[in-house]
Amino acid sequence: MPYSKSNWILAGHISQLSEPGDFKVLNVARESAIIVRGSDGELKGFANVCRHRGSLVCLKSQGHTEKFACPYHGWTYDIDGNLYAARNMPKDFDMAAHSLKPVSVGVIHGLIFVCFTDTPLSLEGAIRELAEPMAMFDFENLKVAAQKSYEIPANWKLSIENYQECYHCATAHPEYARMHTLMLDRDKRERVQGKMLEKMPACGVRDIFIDRIDTAAREGEIGYGYSRTALFDKYKTGSKDGGPVAPLLGEFTDYDGGASDFSFGAFSFLLAYSDHVVAYVFTPIDHKNSNCEIYWLVRGDAEEGKDYDVDALTWLWDVTTQSDKEIIVNNSKGVHSKYYQPGPFSGMERAERIYIDWILQELQRD
Ligand code: FES
Ligand SMILES: [Fe+2]
Repeated sequence: MPYSKSNWILAGHISQLSEPGDFKVLNVARESAIIVRGSDGELKGFANVCRHRGSLVCLKSQGHTEKFACPYHGWTYDIDGNLYAARNMPKDFDMAAHSLKPVSVGVIHGLIFVCFTDTPLSLEGAIRELAEPMAMFDFENLKVAAQKSYEIPANWKLSIENYQECYHCATAHPEYARMHTLMLDRDKRERVQGKMLEKMPACGVRDIFIDRIDTAAREGEIGYGYSRTALFDKYKTGSKDGGPVAPLLGEFTDYDGGASDFSFGAFSFLLAYSDHVVAYVFTPIDHKNSNCEIYWLVRGDAEEGKDYDVDALTWLWDVTTQSDKEIIVNNSKGVHSKYYQPGPFSGMERAERIYIDWILQELQRD
Protein backbone atom coordinates (compact mmCIF):
# COMPACT_ATOMS: atom_id res chain seq x y z
CA MET A 1 0.00 0.00 0.00
CA PRO A 2 2.72 2.51 -0.91
CA TYR A 3 0.33 5.39 -1.57
CA SER A 4 -0.72 5.62 2.08
CA LYS A 5 2.94 6.01 3.04
CA SER A 6 3.55 9.10 0.96
CA ASN A 7 0.53 11.14 2.00
CA TRP A 8 -0.31 13.06 5.15
CA ILE A 9 -3.03 11.51 7.31
CA LEU A 10 -5.01 13.29 10.02
CA ALA A 11 -4.08 11.75 13.38
CA GLY A 12 -5.95 13.98 15.84
CA HIS A 13 -5.91 17.41 17.43
CA ILE A 14 -3.13 19.08 19.44
CA SER A 15 -5.44 19.24 22.48
CA GLN A 16 -5.17 15.43 22.72
CA LEU A 17 -1.41 15.69 23.26
CA SER A 18 -1.01 18.75 25.43
CA GLU A 19 1.62 17.55 27.97
CA PRO A 20 5.07 15.95 27.44
CA GLY A 21 4.49 12.18 27.45
CA ASP A 22 0.94 12.37 26.03
CA PHE A 23 0.82 9.99 23.08
CA LYS A 24 -1.43 8.34 20.53
CA VAL A 25 -0.94 5.62 17.96
CA LEU A 26 -1.98 5.75 14.30
CA ASN A 27 -2.24 2.47 12.36
CA VAL A 28 -2.38 2.62 8.57
CA ALA A 29 -2.05 -0.51 6.43
CA ARG A 30 1.24 -2.17 7.47
CA GLU A 31 2.53 0.89 9.33
CA SER A 32 2.03 2.06 12.89
CA ALA A 33 3.18 5.40 14.28
CA ILE A 34 3.50 6.72 17.83
CA ILE A 35 2.85 10.46 18.04
CA VAL A 36 4.07 11.93 21.29
CA ARG A 37 4.61 15.31 22.93
CA GLY A 38 8.38 15.17 23.57
CA SER A 39 10.36 16.42 26.58
CA ASP A 40 11.02 19.72 24.75
CA GLY A 41 7.27 20.27 24.26
CA GLU A 42 7.40 19.52 20.52
CA LEU A 43 5.27 16.91 18.77
CA LYS A 44 7.28 13.94 17.51
CA GLY A 45 6.48 10.86 15.50
CA PHE A 46 8.16 7.44 15.65
CA ALA A 47 7.67 4.17 13.86
CA ASN A 48 6.03 1.87 16.39
CA VAL A 49 8.60 -0.81 15.58
CA CYS A 50 11.15 -2.03 18.11
CA ARG A 51 14.79 -1.66 17.10
CA HIS A 52 15.54 -5.09 18.61
CA ARG A 53 13.50 -7.70 16.74
CA GLY A 54 10.71 -5.56 15.40
CA SER A 55 7.76 -5.99 17.74
CA LEU A 56 5.17 -3.24 18.02
CA VAL A 57 6.37 -1.22 21.01
CA CYS A 58 3.19 0.55 22.08
CA LEU A 59 0.01 -1.50 22.19
CA LYS A 60 -2.27 1.21 23.64
CA SER A 61 -4.12 3.56 21.30
CA GLN A 62 -3.48 6.63 23.47
CA GLY A 63 -2.44 7.72 26.93
CA HIS A 64 0.34 9.31 28.94
CA THR A 65 3.71 7.73 29.69
CA GLU A 66 7.27 8.45 30.73
CA LYS A 67 8.74 5.48 28.82
CA PHE A 68 7.70 3.12 26.05
CA ALA A 69 8.64 -0.46 27.03
CA CYS A 70 8.57 -3.08 24.29
CA PRO A 71 6.33 -5.96 25.43
CA TYR A 72 8.62 -8.58 23.82
CA HIS A 73 12.05 -8.37 25.52
CA GLY A 74 11.64 -5.14 27.40
CA TRP A 75 13.79 -2.66 25.47
CA THR A 76 12.67 0.71 26.76
CA TYR A 77 12.55 4.04 24.90
CA ASP A 78 12.08 7.55 26.33
CA ILE A 79 9.43 9.94 25.02
CA ASP A 80 11.97 11.39 22.57
CA GLY A 81 12.41 7.97 20.98
CA ASN A 82 15.89 7.31 22.46
CA LEU A 83 16.69 3.78 23.61
CA TYR A 84 16.98 4.05 27.37
CA ALA A 85 17.40 0.48 28.59
CA ALA A 86 18.19 -2.90 26.98
CA ARG A 87 19.11 -5.93 29.12
CA ASN A 88 22.10 -8.24 28.58
CA MET A 89 23.40 -6.62 25.45
CA PRO A 90 27.10 -6.90 24.46
CA LYS A 91 29.49 -4.31 25.97
CA ASP A 92 30.03 -2.60 22.63
CA PHE A 93 26.28 -2.27 21.94
CA ASP A 94 25.58 1.28 20.76
CA MET A 95 22.38 2.43 22.47
CA ALA A 96 22.41 5.78 20.65
CA ALA A 97 22.28 4.02 17.28
CA HIS A 98 19.05 2.24 18.21
CA SER A 99 16.53 5.02 18.71
CA LEU A 100 13.03 4.54 17.31
CA LYS A 101 12.94 5.58 13.65
CA PRO A 102 11.31 8.96 13.02
CA VAL A 103 8.02 9.43 11.19
CA SER A 104 7.02 12.89 9.85
CA VAL A 105 4.54 14.88 11.94
CA GLY A 106 3.00 18.21 10.93
CA VAL A 107 0.31 20.51 12.29
CA ILE A 108 -2.23 22.52 10.28
CA HIS A 109 -3.98 25.02 12.56
CA GLY A 110 -4.26 22.56 15.44
CA LEU A 111 -4.82 19.41 13.38
CA ILE A 112 -2.05 16.80 13.67
CA PHE A 113 -0.95 14.98 10.53
CA VAL A 114 1.39 12.03 10.11
CA CYS A 115 3.28 10.91 7.02
CA PHE A 116 5.26 7.68 6.73
CA THR A 117 8.15 9.13 4.77
CA ASP A 118 11.18 11.32 5.54
CA THR A 119 10.46 13.49 2.50
CA PRO A 120 6.81 14.48 2.91
CA LEU A 121 4.81 16.89 0.77
CA SER A 122 4.90 20.47 2.05
CA LEU A 123 2.01 21.64 4.26
CA GLU A 124 2.84 25.33 3.82
CA GLY A 125 0.31 26.02 1.05
CA ALA A 126 -2.54 24.47 3.02
CA ILE A 127 -1.54 26.33 6.20
CA ARG A 128 -1.42 29.65 4.36
CA GLU A 129 -4.46 29.32 2.10
CA LEU A 130 -6.76 27.82 4.72
CA ALA A 131 -5.77 30.18 7.55
CA GLU A 132 -8.77 32.45 7.06
CA PRO A 133 -11.53 29.87 6.55
CA MET A 134 -10.17 27.78 9.44
CA ALA A 135 -9.88 30.83 11.74
CA MET A 136 -13.68 31.22 11.53
CA PHE A 137 -13.92 28.06 13.63
CA ASP A 138 -10.79 28.70 15.74
CA PHE A 139 -9.47 25.24 14.91
CA GLU A 140 -6.43 25.63 17.18
CA ASN A 141 -8.61 25.91 20.29
CA LEU A 142 -11.00 23.05 19.65
CA LYS A 143 -11.03 19.81 21.65
CA VAL A 144 -12.03 16.27 20.79
CA ALA A 145 -15.39 15.56 22.46
CA ALA A 146 -15.74 12.07 20.93
CA GLN A 147 -13.80 9.70 18.67
CA LYS A 148 -15.05 6.50 17.09
CA SER A 149 -13.62 3.86 14.69
CA TYR A 150 -15.70 2.06 12.07
CA GLU A 151 -14.06 -0.94 10.43
CA ILE A 152 -15.36 -1.31 6.89
CA PRO A 153 -14.78 -4.58 5.01
CA ALA A 154 -14.08 -2.82 1.71
CA ASN A 155 -11.20 -1.08 -0.01
CA TRP A 156 -10.51 2.47 1.27
CA LYS A 157 -11.17 3.98 -2.15
CA LEU A 158 -14.78 2.77 -2.10
CA SER A 159 -15.27 4.39 1.31
CA ILE A 160 -13.86 7.70 0.10
CA GLU A 161 -15.84 7.62 -3.16
CA ASN A 162 -18.96 7.21 -1.07
CA TYR A 163 -17.99 10.18 1.13
CA GLN A 164 -17.42 12.37 -1.93
CA GLU A 165 -20.92 12.26 -3.41
CA CYS A 166 -24.43 12.87 -2.23
CA TYR A 167 -26.18 11.23 -5.18
CA HIS A 168 -26.91 8.39 -2.75
CA CYS A 169 -28.11 10.63 0.10
CA ALA A 170 -31.78 10.82 -0.83
CA THR A 171 -32.05 7.03 -1.15
CA ALA A 172 -29.73 5.95 1.63
CA HIS A 173 -29.76 8.70 4.28
CA PRO A 174 -33.14 10.15 5.14
CA GLU A 175 -31.53 11.68 8.26
CA TYR A 176 -28.79 13.43 6.31
CA ALA A 177 -30.85 14.37 3.27
CA ARG A 178 -33.18 16.35 5.51
CA MET A 179 -30.56 18.96 6.27
CA HIS A 180 -27.80 19.20 3.67
CA THR A 181 -28.60 20.80 0.36
CA LEU A 182 -26.07 18.86 -1.68
CA MET A 183 -28.81 16.65 -3.06
CA LEU A 184 -30.83 19.59 -4.42
CA ASP A 185 -30.79 20.56 -8.07
CA ARG A 186 -28.60 23.50 -8.99
CA ASP A 187 -31.33 26.20 -9.00
CA LYS A 188 -32.77 25.30 -5.62
CA ARG A 189 -29.32 24.96 -4.16
CA GLU A 190 -28.25 28.38 -5.38
CA ARG A 191 -31.35 29.90 -3.77
CA VAL A 192 -30.52 28.34 -0.39
CA GLN A 193 -26.85 29.32 -0.77
CA GLY A 194 -27.96 32.91 -1.42
CA LYS A 195 -29.87 33.00 1.85
CA MET A 196 -26.86 31.68 3.77
CA LEU A 197 -24.59 34.30 2.19
CA GLU A 198 -26.94 37.08 3.25
CA LYS A 199 -26.97 35.83 6.83
CA MET A 200 -23.20 35.31 7.12
CA PRO A 201 -22.02 38.88 7.96
CA ALA A 202 -24.66 39.27 10.70
CA CYS A 203 -23.36 36.05 12.29
CA GLY A 204 -19.78 37.29 12.31
CA VAL A 205 -18.78 35.02 9.42
CA ARG A 206 -16.66 36.57 6.71
CA ASP A 207 -17.77 36.00 3.14
CA ILE A 208 -14.49 34.60 1.85
CA PHE A 209 -14.34 31.69 -0.54
CA ILE A 210 -17.57 30.05 -1.44
CA ASP A 211 -16.28 27.76 -4.12
CA ARG A 212 -13.80 25.01 -3.75
CA ILE A 213 -10.11 25.92 -3.46
CA ASP A 214 -8.38 23.03 -5.05
CA THR A 215 -4.67 23.08 -5.49
CA ALA A 216 -4.38 19.34 -5.36
CA ALA A 217 -2.23 19.21 -8.44
CA ARG A 218 0.50 21.54 -7.13
CA GLU A 219 3.77 19.66 -7.26
CA GLY A 220 5.39 18.91 -3.91
CA GLU A 221 2.45 20.11 -1.80
CA ILE A 222 -0.38 18.37 -0.01
CA GLY A 223 -3.67 18.71 -1.94
CA TYR A 224 -6.39 20.51 -0.04
CA GLY A 225 -9.90 21.80 -0.58
CA TYR A 226 -12.39 24.20 0.96
CA SER A 227 -16.00 25.02 0.21
CA ARG A 228 -18.94 26.43 2.10
CA THR A 229 -22.50 25.22 1.62
CA ALA A 230 -25.90 26.07 3.03
CA LEU A 231 -28.00 23.80 5.20
CA PHE A 232 -31.73 23.58 4.62
CA ASP A 233 -33.85 26.32 6.08
CA LYS A 234 -34.34 26.07 9.85
CA TYR A 235 -31.30 23.79 10.29
CA LYS A 236 -28.67 25.51 12.39
CA THR A 237 -26.19 22.68 12.57
CA GLY A 238 -25.73 18.97 11.82
CA SER A 239 -27.94 17.43 14.49
CA LYS A 240 -31.03 15.27 14.76
CA ASP A 241 -33.49 18.17 14.66
CA GLY A 242 -31.15 20.86 13.32
CA GLY A 243 -30.94 22.53 16.75
CA PRO A 244 -27.66 23.56 18.44
CA VAL A 245 -25.51 20.82 20.02
CA ALA A 246 -22.58 22.80 21.44
CA PRO A 247 -21.41 26.41 22.05
CA LEU A 248 -20.74 28.48 18.94
CA LEU A 249 -17.20 28.23 17.59
CA GLY A 250 -14.62 30.94 16.93
CA GLU A 251 -15.96 34.04 15.25
CA PHE A 252 -19.62 33.01 15.10
CA THR A 253 -22.05 35.23 16.98
CA ASP A 254 -25.07 33.27 15.71
CA TYR A 255 -25.97 30.39 13.36
CA ASP A 256 -25.83 31.48 9.72
CA GLY A 257 -27.29 28.29 8.29
CA GLY A 258 -24.07 27.12 6.63
CA ALA A 259 -21.37 24.47 6.93
CA SER A 260 -17.81 24.34 5.58
CA ASP A 261 -16.00 21.41 4.02
CA PHE A 262 -12.24 20.99 4.26
CA SER A 263 -10.12 18.24 2.77
CA PHE A 264 -6.43 17.45 3.27
CA GLY A 265 -4.58 15.00 1.09
CA ALA A 266 -6.19 11.74 0.08
CA PHE A 267 -7.61 10.52 3.37
CA SER A 268 -8.82 13.36 5.61
CA PHE A 269 -12.10 15.29 5.30
CA LEU A 270 -13.74 17.74 7.69
CA LEU A 271 -17.19 19.17 7.98
CA ALA A 272 -17.37 22.33 10.10
CA TYR A 273 -20.69 23.54 11.46
CA SER A 274 -21.16 26.74 13.47
CA ASP A 275 -20.97 24.80 16.76
CA HIS A 276 -18.88 21.68 16.06
CA VAL A 277 -16.54 20.03 13.58
CA VAL A 278 -16.69 16.44 12.35
CA ALA A 279 -13.43 15.01 10.98
CA TYR A 280 -13.41 11.88 8.84
CA VAL A 281 -10.25 9.87 8.23
CA PHE A 282 -10.42 6.90 5.84
CA THR A 283 -7.37 4.66 5.85
CA PRO A 284 -6.49 1.28 4.41
CA ILE A 285 -6.10 -1.76 6.66
CA ASP A 286 -5.36 -3.96 3.67
CA HIS A 287 -6.70 -4.04 0.11
CA LYS A 288 -10.07 -5.43 1.22
CA ASN A 289 -10.54 -3.65 4.56
CA SER A 290 -10.46 -0.05 5.62
CA ASN A 291 -11.00 2.04 8.71
CA CYS A 292 -13.09 5.14 9.11
CA GLU A 293 -12.10 7.21 12.13
CA ILE A 294 -14.41 10.03 13.14
CA TYR A 295 -13.54 12.87 15.52
CA TRP A 296 -16.18 15.22 16.87
CA LEU A 297 -14.61 18.53 17.93
CA VAL A 298 -16.14 21.29 20.03
CA ARG A 299 -14.91 24.55 21.51
CA GLY A 300 -11.95 23.93 23.81
CA ASP A 301 -13.66 25.35 26.90
CA ALA A 302 -16.98 23.52 26.39
CA GLU A 303 -17.89 21.15 29.23
CA GLU A 304 -19.49 17.78 28.66
CA GLY A 305 -22.90 17.48 30.31
CA LYS A 306 -23.24 21.23 30.65
CA ASP A 307 -22.47 22.62 27.18
CA TYR A 308 -22.87 19.48 25.07
CA ASP A 309 -24.15 15.94 25.22
CA VAL A 310 -22.01 13.36 23.39
CA ASP A 311 -25.00 11.32 22.14
CA ALA A 312 -26.71 14.39 20.68
CA LEU A 313 -23.41 15.65 19.20
CA THR A 314 -22.50 12.37 17.50
CA TRP A 315 -25.97 11.15 16.47
CA LEU A 316 -26.15 12.38 12.87
CA TRP A 317 -22.78 11.20 11.58
CA ASP A 318 -22.82 8.02 13.60
CA VAL A 319 -26.16 6.99 12.07
CA THR A 320 -25.02 8.12 8.63
CA THR A 321 -21.69 6.31 8.82
CA GLN A 322 -23.35 3.07 9.88
CA SER A 323 -25.68 3.21 6.91
CA ASP A 324 -22.78 4.20 4.61
CA LYS A 325 -20.90 1.13 5.80
CA GLU A 326 -23.72 -1.08 4.55
CA ILE A 327 -23.80 0.64 1.15
CA ILE A 328 -20.01 0.42 0.79
CA VAL A 329 -19.95 -3.29 1.64
CA ASN A 330 -22.66 -4.00 -0.97
CA ASN A 331 -20.71 -1.89 -3.46
CA SER A 332 -17.54 -3.84 -2.68
CA LYS A 333 -19.25 -7.17 -3.34
CA GLY A 334 -20.50 -5.92 -6.73
CA VAL A 335 -17.24 -4.44 -7.96
CA HIS A 336 -15.43 -7.73 -7.34
CA SER A 337 -17.69 -9.43 -9.88
CA LYS A 338 -16.26 -10.19 -13.31
CA TYR A 339 -19.32 -8.43 -14.75
CA TYR A 340 -18.50 -5.09 -13.14
CA GLN A 341 -17.84 -2.26 -15.54
CA PRO A 342 -17.89 1.34 -14.19
CA GLY A 343 -20.89 3.33 -15.42
CA PRO A 344 -21.06 7.09 -16.05
CA PHE A 345 -21.25 9.60 -13.20
CA SER A 346 -24.34 11.69 -12.53
CA GLY A 347 -24.20 15.49 -12.30
CA MET A 348 -24.20 15.11 -8.51
CA GLU A 349 -20.91 13.22 -8.43
CA ARG A 350 -18.61 16.06 -9.45
CA ALA A 351 -16.44 15.96 -6.32
CA GLU A 352 -15.99 12.22 -6.69
CA ARG A 353 -14.91 12.65 -10.31
CA ILE A 354 -12.40 15.36 -9.30
CA TYR A 355 -11.07 13.11 -6.53
CA ILE A 356 -10.64 10.12 -8.83
CA ASP A 357 -8.85 12.20 -11.49
CA TRP A 358 -6.58 13.61 -8.80
CA ILE A 359 -5.77 10.29 -7.18
CA LEU A 360 -4.96 8.71 -10.56
CA GLN A 361 -2.61 11.59 -11.23
CA GLU A 362 -1.01 11.21 -7.77
CA LEU A 363 -0.57 7.47 -8.21
CA GLN A 364 1.42 8.07 -11.38
CA ARG A 365 3.96 10.17 -9.50
CA ASP A 366 7.02 8.53 -7.99
S1 FES B 1 11.48 -6.97 19.95
FE1 FES B 1 11.38 -5.31 21.32
S2 FES B 1 12.65 -5.88 22.93
FE2 FES B 1 12.84 -7.53 21.55
FE1 LIG C 1 -23.47 8.48 2.70
